[in-house]
Order: sequence, then structure tokens, then C-alpha cells
Amino acid sequence: MNTIRFGRLGFILAAAGSAVGLGNVWKFPYMTGENGGGAFVLIYLLTITFIGLSLFLAETVMGRLSRGDTVTAFETLAKTHQNYWKYAGFIIITGVLILAFYTVVIGWILKYVVLSFQTLPSTVEVAGGLFGGMVTTDTYGQLGYFTLAFVLCFWIVSRGVKAGIEKVNLFMMPLLILILLTLLLYAMSLSGFGEAFSFLFKPDFSKLHSSSVLAAVGHAFFTLSLGMGSIMTYGASLPEKENLFRSSIMVAFIDTAIALVAGMVIFTFLFHFGAQPTQGPGLVFVSLPALLSSFGLLGNIIAIAFFTALAFAGITSAVSIIEPVVMYITNRFNLSRMKALLILGVMTYGMGVLALMSNIETLKASVTFFGKGFFDILDFMSSSIMLPLGGMLVALFVGFFMEKQTLQTLLLPYMSKRLFAIWYLSIRYVTPVGVLCVMLNKLFF
Ligand code: TRP
Repeated sequence: MNTIRFGRLGFILAAAGSAVGLGNVWKFPYMTGENGGGAFVLIYLLTITFIGLSLFLAETVMGRLSRGDTVTAFETLAKTHQNYWKYAGFIIITGVLILAFYTVVIGWILKYVVLSFQTLPSTVEVAGGLFGGMVTTDTYGQLGYFTLAFVLCFWIVSRGVKAGIEKVNLFMMPLLILILLTLLLYAMSLSGFGEAFSFLFKPDFSKLHSSSVLAAVGHAFFTLSLGMGSIMTYGASLPEKENLFRSSIMVAFIDTAIALVAGMVIFTFLFHFGAQPTQGPGLVFVSLPALLSSFGLLGNIIAIAFFTALAFAGITSAVSIIEPVVMYITNRFNLSRMKALLILGVMTYGMGVLALMSNIETLKASVTFFGKGFFDILDFMSSSIMLPLGGMLVALFVGFFMEKQTLQTLLLPYMSKRLFAIWYLSIRYVTPVGVLCVMLNKLFF
């Protein structure tokens, strides 16, 4: 039984810290670029509204009612078949896969904090070369920064979520938002702004493939931290009287708004230079430094602040991926927090090194499977397959295997009967059927 409780605003901060991360600023823009823009964004927004939000509430409810780790939550809340349902709690394993490539990217960001002190690359081409060079040739440099990122994340979790992470969030999140809004204001004055706007918000369905639909749905799960127990685990520390419904809406709103602002900023800069949106994972590392370079010293300062804040956004998310596994191990096996971190750390560090190697020209052959590098496999497996499946399990569980009465008692103080009915419908049918259709569509067509 978990006895730690978040303070006022604590849950919203922690959940927003988890949700807002590399997914918003690094992944969303480049995925949008690669998947053709507006139509992808539309599906992403629809998924967040009709599936993501209900699932977010479902995960908080499970955490809040069970007050335990994910395995315990599925086990104790099941009306029947508890012995089978507890295995659904192992959706936390997806976290190991995410963490491995996520910390590699935080490593890149740390390196860019350092690079921001030097002369910034003056064109998109130079910036692209710099980023590409780092990722495909600089094995030891990357390994160093990756290790630093890794140690930093695990060290913060070892100090406990409240003392370390809540405080960092409180300071860094507003800074990140401030920088993004400032950049947005500046972007509005550039000629690329209109083009960026139509790219993001004018859907062109001819560019949409079934793989893009799956990617958009998967990313909606990824960005809200759904489908692997992060939100459920934080839900276990909710105060007795928190308005779960309002908190869920707030987190989803903050998360979406930050992604859209980041997207607008990055694409405006890119179009300003007449560059292509299909730059892949290097997008944020390419368009931003190139534009900021024309600002001289001020550009350096903005770049330093931006990448530092982004690193922290990433770290607060990484922490929320580590915590569910740690909570499971400490609860169920009575091991210390340190031992739990060590077990998880060894697993993920090894996978992170393989992910990193799979981008290096001279090493990639040994870590490429079925034509895909290990880094991409981790990303694809977790976002496009395991998170949607995890979300579907949560939906089916809450919709069909928990007592409806229990859900009503908890939620009706915060939402009308009608809203509850809509949510219940979404959890029982819309979410599972929606996710299933998208996955089948991708598999067979
Ligand atoms: N949501 C975070 C982001 O957008 C990443 C993240 C944190 C996550 N916890 C998660 C993704 C749990 C999936 C599942 O960067």
C-alpha cells in the first residue's frame, strides 16, 4: 500500500512533467514532418480527445483506487480472474524499451547544451551535418553524454520523486514554456509562419498512409505517457479529494498545447530557410540552432536555455518511466529502492548502448534486424505496438472487469452522470475498437 501523497497541484505537476517531454518537442515535430503534416496532426488530436483523455482518466482511477504498483492494481481491482489479470501489470516492461532510446536522446540534448556555448551552425545544411556527424560517427562522445544522462535520471529517482523531481519540475517547466512562447512570438514575425501553419493544420489526406495513422495513434499514447503504467503509478499517490477529471483535462491540454507550439516554432524556422520538413530525428537539433545563430550572443543564450529546459523536460519524463518499475520491484519483492534501480539500470543501460551503436555507420550492421536499426526497433515496438496494446488492456479492464459502482462512487462527485456515461462508453468500446482497427489496418493493408 502506497502511503505517499502528492501535495496540492503535486499530481498535476508530476503528471504534466511526465507527459511533457521529448515527445512534445523532439518527436512530435519530426514525426509530423515525416508523415506529411496536417492529416497526421488531425489524427493525433482526435486520438487525444476521444481516446487519450479517457484512458488518462482510467489510469489515474486505477492508481487512485488500488494505491499500489501496476501489477497490484490489476490484481486487486479485478472482479474475477485476478490471477490472470495481474499479468497485465507487466505493461511496465515497455518502459525499459522506451527508457533505453529516451536516455540516448537526452544525451544528445546535453551535448547540445555544451555546443550552444560555441558558435552555432549558420545554415540548416551545416547544422544537419553537425547532428548527423554526432549520431553516425561519434561513438565515444555519445556514449559519454548518454552515460551522464543515464546516471542523472537514476540518481534523481534514487532521491525519491518528491524531493528531487517535483522541485526541478516546478522551476524548469515554466522556463521551457516561457522560452517556447518567446520563440513563438518571434516566429510570428517570420515569413515561414504562414507556411508552417498550413503545414500543421491543413490536412492533406493523400499523404496519409496506414503507417502514419498508426504512428499518430501511437504518438498520442506516447505523449500522454499512457499504456505502460506511468500515470497509474502517479495516480497511486493522489490525495483523497483530488478532482481526477479536471486534472486529466488539464494535463492533456498542457501537453497538447506545448507540442503544437513547439511544432509551429520548429517548422517556421525550417521553412524560413526553405528546408524540407523530412529531416527525421535531427529536426529540432537542426532548425533551431541554425536560426538562432543569426542572433549572435543572444542566440547562444536562448539555445543554452532551450536545450537545458528540454533536458529537464526529458528527465522528468524519464523519471516517470523508471518509477513504475521501481515501485513494482520494491513492493512485490521487498527490495530496497537502490537495488531496484540497479536491476533496472543494468537492463536499460545495455539496451541503450545497443541503440546508440545502431546509429553508428561502422557498427550498425551488428545491431540491425529485419532492416531496422535497434534504436528504431525500440521506438517502433514501444510506441506503435506495446503502448497501444497496453492502453487497450487498461480500457478493457476498466470497462469490463472492474465494478461499475466503484467507478461511479469515485467519479460522480467530479463529473455529471452524462459525462460519466460518455467516458464509460469510450473506455468500453471506442478505445478498444479504435486501437484494434488501427492495428489491424496496419498489419493487413
Ligand atoms: N510522455 C513523455 C514524452 O512525451 C514520455 C513518457 C513518459 C512516456 N512516461 C511515459 C511515454 C510512459 C510512454 C509511456 O516525452
